[in-house]
Amino acid sequence: MELQNKVAVITGAARGIGLEIARLFAREGACVVLVDRNGAEKAAEALKKQHYDAIASPLDITDANAVNNAVETVAGARGHIDILVNNAGIIARGDIFDLTRGQWLQVMDVNVNGNFYLCKAVVPFMIRQHSGIIINITSIAGKMGDITAAPVYGASKGAINTLTKSLARQLADYGIRVNAVAPHAIETDMSADWPEEKRQEVIGAIPLKRMGRPEEVAEAALFLASERSSFITGEILNVNGGQLMD
Ligand SMILES: NC(=O)c1ccc[n+]([C@@H]2O[C@H](COP(=O)([O-])OP(=O)(O)OC[C@H]3O[C@@H](n4cnc5c(N)ncnc54)[C@H](O)[C@@H]3O)[C@@H](O)[C@H]2O)c1
Repeated sequence: MELQNKVAVITGAARGIGLEIARLFAREGACVVLVDRNGAEKAAEALKKQHYDAIASPLDITDANAVNNAVETVAGARGHIDILVNNAGIIARGDIFDLTRGQWLQVMDVNVNGNFYLCKAVVPFMIRQHSGIIINITSIAGKMGDITAAPVYGASKGAINTLTKSLARQLADYGIRVNAVAPHAIETDMSADWPEEKRQEVIGAIPLKRMGRPEEVAEAALFLASERSSFITGEILNVNGGQLMD
């Protein structure tokens, strides 16, 4: 098992990509802390029934105090925090003509500020341990701009990409690696509302000619969370069926 005795905090872990990351990390021996504003308990219970080590942390990541309290509770109970996966994210569709200031602020608050609050909360523990791994789930939209008419989403993921690289540089001296996974077109609730025509258009532009599965993103996260990627930091790993090759 690749993550035996590791404690991994995963945000947005109640469903979709985050849940698959939690499942895979738990299978690999980690204690997984499932952070989510909806359904964290239910998801953690399901893992516990399968005899995995899972802790529910029901909170909204835009609440910095709640984030700090949760991280301190986990560190107090388990003694260490080894891995943080910043996966929780939202999208607001609408081009520049329709997008409201409220939507802009909401997406930035979850995707960028929430990510920052989690990093800020876990980094002191990781520095004390002189080890840690942070993985940000970004998007192809952070590299090429959003192709589904959601400019605020692309902007938020672009911010995460540069945050990933900045923290990778700043935290390397402390034995902390910071990387990101950039998925595209993954079958989850987030992509479920695409009209059929749009879906076919998206699939048609992907060299592998299909949507991706959340499990395939989880495998990339496991690689970055394990010793197999020990010389990799500041990387933004594509999981996109070949849509963007950079
Ligand atoms: N599905 C895709 O095609 C795709 C593509 C590229 C990137 N991504 C990224 O992958 C990540 C996961 O996406 P998904 O498709 O699994 O989405 P999803 O909508 O299925 O799941 C997101 C989870 O995050 C939780 N969440 C949202 N806001 C939160 C908050 N403020 N506090 C706590 N929890 C919150 C939700 O409750 C939900 O359980 C996101 O960051 C998304 O931007 C997804």
